[in-house]
Amino acid sequence: MASPEKYLIAGNWKMNGTLASLSMIDELMKGVSSRDLQRQDIMLCPPFTLLSRLIDKTATLPFLIGAQDCHMQEKGAHTGDISAAMLRDLGTDAVIVGHSERRADHGETNEIVQAKAESAHAHDLTAIICIGETLDQREAGQTLAVVSDQLTGSMPALCTAANTVIAYEPVWAIGTGKVPSNDDIALVHQNLREILTSRLGEEGERIHLLYGGSVKGSNAADILSIEHVNGALVGGASLTAKDFLAIIKSVPEL
Ligand code: 13P
Repeated sequence: MASPEKYLIAGNWKMNGTLASLSMIDELMKGVSSRDLQRQDIMLCPPFTLLSRLIDKTATLPFLIGAQDCHMQEKGAHTGDISAAMLRDLGTDAVIVGHSERRADHGETNEIVQAKAESAHAHDLTAIICIGETLDQREAGQTLAVVSDQLTGSMPALCTAANTVIAYEPVWAIGTGKVPSNDDIALVHQNLREILTSRLGEEGERIHLLYGGSVKGSNAADILSIEHVNGALVGGASLTAKDFLAIIKSVPEL
């Protein structure tokens, strides 16, 4: 899994991509250098339809592969759902749980997200647990309360740096081109770090805290230089090799 000592740059393709999109991997490989890989682990999270092909295509390449959701149960009568066991069976490394788009579109609560993360852990997948406030909540001064509540409510009791990544994604920054100020990101990440260390001790210091929301080549270096920002969860700018490479190249020295 992702090394706690490196940055983690993860691309969430969301509901984008067809078989033709896999050619971006060749382009990506042409651009990624050993220097880049010393600083960061790179993860791609395609839609379910491309997972198997992408895992095959990257078998000898230095990319981690994640899914975008899983069911909380291992198997059963859940039409249309995919379990963590199935993802692991394919060779998937990680799974995003509790993305704000799933919380909004599918009514996922903290309890559901926690159960999904537990299932991911049980099947040897890293759970990338997403949290983040809406614009209304930010304007009402509730950001820290909301994200703290989401973190404590969505995290399984026993998390390690190997099986858990936390992604702070302000809902209002996703796909909008708007990004919080560095001070605002620093405040949230500091708060999240304190919660993690108070719950998990030293292990909590090692868990990756990613920022997500309109990360691109032009702002990545700035965002990644903030204390307790250990990587990025990238949406739109992970869809083309050119845009994703611009972020990969911006990752600071460790
Ligand atoms: P954008 O990078 O497109 O804002 O998306 C962020 C995100 O939701 C990643 O999970």
